Amino acid sequence: MAEDKWAQWLLTRRDGNSAALRARSDRDLAVVRDGVLDGAGLLPEDVVLDVGCGTGLIGFGALDRLGPQGHVIFSDVSRDLLDECRRTAGGDERCSFVLAAAEDLTGIPDASVDVVTTRSVLIYSARKAAAFVEFFRVLRPGGRVSLFEPINRFARQRRPDDLFGLGASSVDDLLAKVRDVYRSVTAEGERPMIDFDERDLVEWAVAAGFEAVELDYRAQVDVPGEPIVDWEALKQVAPNPLVPTYGEAIATALTGAERKRLDAHMTARAALGTPTRRTVAIAFLRALRP
Ligand SMILES: C[S@@+](CC[C@H](N)C(=O)[O-])C[C@H]1O[C@@H](n2cnc3c(N)ncnc32)[C@H](O)[C@@H]1O
Repeated sequence: MAEDKWAQWLLTRRDGNSAALRARSDRDLAVVRDGVLDGAGLLPEDVVLDVGCGTGLIGFGALDRLGPQGHVIFSDVSRDLLDECRRTAGGDERCSFVLAAAEDLTGIPDASVDVVTTRSVLIYSARKAAAFVEFFRVLRPGGRVSLFEPINRFARQRRPDDLFGLGASSVDDLLAKVRDVYRSVTAEGERPMIDFDERDLVEWAVAAGFEAVELDYRAQVDVPGEPIVDWEALKQVAPNPLVPTYGEAIATALTGAERKRLDAHMTARAALGTPTRRTVAIAFLRALRP
């Protein structure tokens, strides 16, 4: 049976099934994982709830830091990803698995966990404030939440058309057509990804009752990023779970002749190894349930 869209993205479409791209994203993700876990201030016997666990980046990272009495609850809306985490856990009794949405953590009792973690999950939720209320509910007094979210609205406002971070180029006309595919396909579903910023995260945490709310925000505009090294692999990548791969969008948007022109430009660009330009914003938040 085909995996759901979340599993398909995390397991293949995020990295285009390319070992080189996977190695690159693993390296970046390890930094984010460590930021979330450092912010959580884990103690050896903590019960950690990882909301939207995916393949277990944060949950298994937490497990490595806990002692023999610690426990990690992996929760997600994707049954396929919970199965994947169950396989990875390989019978470790410090793990349990709960099918639940961030906005409705039914199945997790009130005041039952020491730490809630989550990474790049709220960005897909249309009810982010409700998720904070649930995090507060399941945490025991003195418990902590530690999370990371990309603030996609920032790049959308600053660089709405710079699809691959190339800056101005001779294929801008083609890239504009590809960008339009993403605009039309995703306009509705993508709204939760751009309908908030770092100040909203703080507001929702405070409104839910958290104290000692701390936010670390980082914004970058046109800073040198990784070069495009393999255009064919990049075409197999989807920028998020809700949208087509770049190759799929190109097939929809461009004629055969246009595709050839784009391929020639991007292959030459990859051979040069010039850095791309990154425009991104990210936020880490941690807070305490009094
Ligand atoms: C970008 S992945 C992040 C996975 C994982 N947290 C990580 O750090 O690698 C987003 C995850 O959120 C899950 N997800 C999407 N909507 C959700 C929701 N409303 N509540 C809980 N999880 C959700 C998806 O199934 C997916 O596993």
